[in-house]
Amino acid sequence: MRRNIVAGNWKSNELFSQADELINDIAEGLREFDNTDVDVIVCPPFPYLELVGDASEDVEFFVGAQNVSKFDNGAFTGEVSAKMLQSMNIDYCIVGHSERRKYFNETNQDVAEKVNKLLEADINPIVCVGESLAQREAGTHFDLIRSQVSEGLFHLDCEQIKKTVIAYEPVWAIGTGKTATKEQAQEVHAFIRAMLAEKYSDDVAQEVSILYGGSCNAKNARELFAQTDVDGGLIGGASLKAADFIEIARSF
Ligand code: 13P
Repeated sequence: MRRNIVAGNWKSNELFSQADELINDIAEGLREFDNTDVDVIVCPPFPYLELVGDASEDVEFFVGAQNVSKFDNGAFTGEVSAKMLQSMNIDYCIVGHSERRKYFNETNQDVAEKVNKLLEADINPIVCVGESLAQREAGTHFDLIRSQVSEGLFHLDCEQIKKTVIAYEPVWAIGTGKTATKEQAQEVHAFIRAMLAEKYSDDVAQEVSILYGGSCNAKNARELFAQTDVDGGLIGGASLKAADFIEIARSF
């Protein structure tokens, strides 16, 4: 399913009334363009999933969560299981975002377990990888990405990896206004695709969407998405402005 994808990660932002307004504005914007060439995904905080899900009944877009428990239902206070998300018809879920790795100590092993729970529940994982500034400056970014991809995903079989979306989000570009150049993005995306081809096959690698994330906005999306191995974006700040988010979704 190598599709063009634009996913909005609202992170821990917006109050209920603001979320209501934002999703209505996004739905309004999506109504006005024929988006058959791009899958639009909106990933709000958990409490707003139903609100966003309701809006997706009239207009074509997908709903994603930002995190999932690695446990099944049970005595795990504060956790949200993949089965709960499935019961709400959630289509996608972000896993292993650098903010979760940094602030909540998520490891590649956690990512692998969460991906398994999501696939069992028929939810497509969006798995984030990406290096820090120090790692890029030290030239170790390819090693880091190799271990994040292989330890998080390479236990999957061909059918499972095809249902998975990978997002390359260099940590130094997230929320900083400092976007990776199109060459930097393409280089890492091609590296990830080559890893997939080596582990699975060329055909399988061609079916996995690889998104870029990190200060992607309405001005730079077009040149990033034009790169051979960049299949769209995972958008943070700019996904909180309906007009910008729609403009990004039009950037293929
Ligand atoms: P920004 O677009 O705000 O840099 O965030 C990117 C991101 O982390 C999306 O998951």
